[in-house]
Amino acid sequence: MAAVRSRIALLLGLLAFPAIAWSADAPLPRLVQKDGRYALLVDGAPFLVLGAQVNNSSAWPAVLPQVWPAIKFIHANTVEMPVYWEQFEPRPGVFDTGVVDALVTECRKNDVRLVLLWFGTWKNGSSHYMPLWMKQDPARFPRMIGANGRPVDSPSPFSKEALEADKRAFVALMRHLKKIDPQHTVIMVQVENEAGTWGAIRDHSPAAQKAFESPVPAEVLSAMSRKPPGPGAGWKEVFGNDADEYFHAWAVARYVGEVAAVGRAEYALPLYANAALRDPISPGPAGSYESGGPTDNVLPIWKAAAPAIDILAPDIYMDDHAKVERVLELYRRPDNPLFVPEISNAPAYARFFFLALGHQALGFAPFGIDYTGAVNFPLGAKRLNEDALAPFAMNYRLVGPMMRELAQLSFEGKVKAVAEKKGTPTQSLDVGSWKVDVRYGVPQFGFGNNPPGNPEPIGRALIAQLGDNDFLVAGFHCRVDFQPSGPAAARQREYLRVEEGSYEKGKFKPLRIWNGDQTDWGLNFTSAPQILRVTVGTY
Ligand code: DGJ
Repeated sequence: MAAVRSRIALLLGLLAFPAIAWSADAPLPRLVQKDGRYALLVDGAPFLVLGAQVNNSSAWPAVLPQVWPAIKFIHANTVEMPVYWEQFEPRPGVFDTGVVDALVTECRKNDVRLVLLWFGTWKNGSSHYMPLWMKQDPARFPRMIGANGRPVDSPSPFSKEALEADKRAFVALMRHLKKIDPQHTVIMVQVENEAGTWGAIRDHSPAAQKAFESPVPAEVLSAMSRKPPGPGAGWKEVFGNDADEYFHAWAVARYVGEVAAVGRAEYALPLYANAALRDPISPGPAGSYESGGPTDNVLPIWKAAAPAIDILAPDIYMDDHAKVERVLELYRRPDNPLFVPEISNAPAYARFFFLALGHQALGFAPFGIDYTGAVNFPLGAKRLNEDALAPFAMNYRLVGPMMRELAQLSFEGKVKAVAEKKGTPTQSLDVGSWKVDVRYGVPQFGFGNNPPGNPEPIGRALIAQLGDNDFLVAGFHCRVDFQPSGPAAARQREYLRVEEGSYEKGKFKPLRIWNGDQTDWGLNFTSAPQILRVTVGTY
C-alpha cells in the first residue's frame, strides 16, 4: 500500500512540476533588494526555494537512489547537498570533481535546483571534513586552544595554512561550477557549515592571544556602535564580559569571509553562512551555545568582517512558536535577507514554512530528507517515512505551482502568513483595509466564535494581496475570515466571489466557485491543497 501511495505521489510530483527549461544562456542567480525587501532571482525572476537538505553522508552518487524518492515525495524544487572537502581534495592541490559533477547532473535529471554546502574548515564547529592529509598534520592545521591550555575539537581561525588551503579548495570548487554549470543548476553555495566552536568560547593560541590584546578593528567598533575607552584598546577593555565571544565571532567571520571572497571572485553565486542558534529569548551565557558563528547577538560583527557572505541564515531546531518567530524577526534585517537553510524535519515544524513566508523568507529547507535510514531524533522525526514527510509535502504541493507568483508578491511586500501557536486559537492579520482572522479547530459548518485550537498546533494560512479587495488565500486546518477595518469597520463583509483554482504557467485557472456552506461561515481549509482567489466587499 505504501509503495502504491509512493508511486502515485511520485507521479503527482512529476505532473505538478513541469521540467525546468535548462538553458546554457540562463542569467546568473542573484539577490536583489528593493524597499528593504529581497528576492532571489533564478532565471531572471524571483524564486522561492522549496528546499530539502539531505543527511550529512547522503551526497554520494551511490546513495542518490535513496534520496530522490524523498525529494519527489516532498515536492521540493531545490535540494541542498554537501561537498565534502575530504573527498574533493584527496591530495594537496589535487581536486576530484567527480562527485560534484554527479550531483549537478542528477539534479538536472530530477528537475531540481541545487544548493551546495561547502563542508570545509568547519562542520558543526569541528574540522572533521578536512582531508586526511590535513588531519595528519596538526602542526600545520592546528585545533584551537581552550582557556585551560588544552586543544579543543575546533579548528583555529588563526591558522594561516588552513585558511589558504580552504581558499584554494573553495576557489577550485567555484571555478569548476562556473565551467560545468552554465544552466545554473546550482543557485547558491553555503560557505562552511555552522562555523564556530562548541566547548570553548574563543581560541587562546599565541596568535589568537596576540590579536585579542591588539586594538579592536575599526569596522567592529563601528558595527557594534562602540567607542574604545582609550587609544588602542583591546577586546577586553572595549567589550568586557562579551569580549571573548565577540572576538571569536570576528575571527571566524573574517576567515569564512576570506574564503567566500575568493570563491565569489571566481564565480559570483549568492553565498550564505548558517548558524547554530542560541535561544533567541533566553540565550543563556556564552559557552552554552556555539561560539563564533553568526548567532543573533553578533550579526553586525559578521556583516562587517565577512562582507562577501550575502546571507546569515538560521538553522532552526526549536519548536516553540514564539522562539521560531523571534528567530525569523532577528535574521530578517535590512542588511540580511531571510533564508532558512535548515529546519527540523519533525512534522510539527511543517507549519513554520508559512511563518517563514510571512517574514518574507526566500526559502526553507527541512533537514535530513532522504530514505537512507539516518535520523536526527530527537531534533528531527523519529523515522523518516511518508507519514513524517506528509505535512511538508502538503506545503510544497500547495505552493509549488505558484512559487514564482508568490516570490514576486513577497518581494512586493504583499504576503502575510501565520502558523498556529498552541493556546492561541485565533490569530489576526492586517491586510490593506481588511482584518483577517484565522481560527483553528472550528468545524467547517457553524459559527466559530470560541475556537478551541487544533488538538496539535498544525494550522497555517497565507494571504497575498492582489488588489484593494482581491486576495489569494490558502491554508491548512484553519478557517480564514475577512472583516473590514478602518473607515468601513462598521459595515458587513460579503464574499463577492471566491474561486478555487490552480496556477498554470503563471495564470490562475479557476476550477470552481465556492459559495453557500463553503463561504457562509468563512473560508475553511482542511488538509487539501486549495488556493482561493477571493474578492471581498461590504454592505
Ligand atoms: C545542523 C547541521 O548543520 C547539520 O549538518 C546536521 O548536523 C544537523 N544539525 C543535525 O541535526
